[in-house]
Amino acid sequence: MKVTIIGAGNVGSSCASLLAQKDIVRKIILLDVREKFSEGKSLDISQMLPLVRSNTQVIGITNDYSKSKNSEIVVITCGIPRKPGMSRDDLVQINAEIIRSVTKESIFFSPKAKFIIVSNPLDVMAYVSYITAKVDSTRVIGMAGILDSTRYRYFLSKKLKLSPYDIQSLLLGGHGDTMVPLYRYTSISGIPIQEFISEEENNVIIEKTKKGGEEVVNLLGTSAWMAPGASVVQMVEAILKDSKRIFSCSSFLKGEYDLRNIYLGVPVILGKSGIEKIIELQLNEKEKYLLTQSANHIKRMIDKIN
Ligand code: LAC
Repeated sequence: MKVTIIGAGNVGSSCASLLAQKDIVRKIILLDVREKFSEGKSLDISQMLPLVRSNTQVIGITNDYSKSKNSEIVVITCGIPRKPGMSRDDLVQINAEIIRSVTKESIFFSPKAKFIIVSNPLDVMAYVSYITAKVDSTRVIGMAGILDSTRYRYFLSKKLKLSPYDIQSLLLGGHGDTMVPLYRYTSISGIPIQEFISEEENNVIIEKTKKGGEEVVNLLGTSAWMAPGASVVQMVEAILKDSKRIFSCSSFLKGEYDLRNIYLGVPVILGKSGIEKIIELQLNEKEKYLLTQSANHIKRMIDKIN
């Protein structure tokens, strides 16, 4: 099994490192435009692998897409990250150009690959990659819901002084400020969240989650990579193992949730062919309203780049 990760920056290289540690793929190609950069990153990761008992080969490549040939999954992480004071949306024009070009190169060498998009603004970049790749939309998937959800689980676990591992949650909508929390669909070891915290108190955690990425940007001067990298690995693993896990992923909608021609976070089943099913929940009026607001925000950005 071969997975290609485009972009050996913080997100791409942490993704390669976390995936390699799992020892579930034969080969990871880490590709970057910068001369020698991904070679250096890959060598460092490879030198760690004997310690974590992994046989995965991690190979750094400078800009030669032919080396990514016949990958089962291509993860696109490249593009410009945010700096303090920037929103994800400020990156739309510049990153759209980059995503178009790397999608074209990658699909040429791996026509059957599933694509996982990580670059920001996430939902718009997933749309750009899908339009460029001209493949079934089930094969182009945006990573954001797992990241937003893991941040939420972490903040909630701190508040409740409980293990984050036991918290189950689902967030819909766009990645970032317009994410749509589903209080009703949150539980802790099967116990509805209402038993632990009121909706008002939960809203405070949600606001913190929305700003979870920004908080890291403000502390580090660039955007996060560990939680994003680990979120990608969950998706890669679910696809490679055909495990039919349910995650919220940015997906192309063709009428689901009354939305069309847009990428937005919704619950899906992930398996060997990518998105195997989009799960449609019966949203209440407030949730529907928030999802529509989120969709309108993404639509405006898509119109801008079109
Ligand atoms: C974040 C970036 C990866 O949320 O979008 O940290």
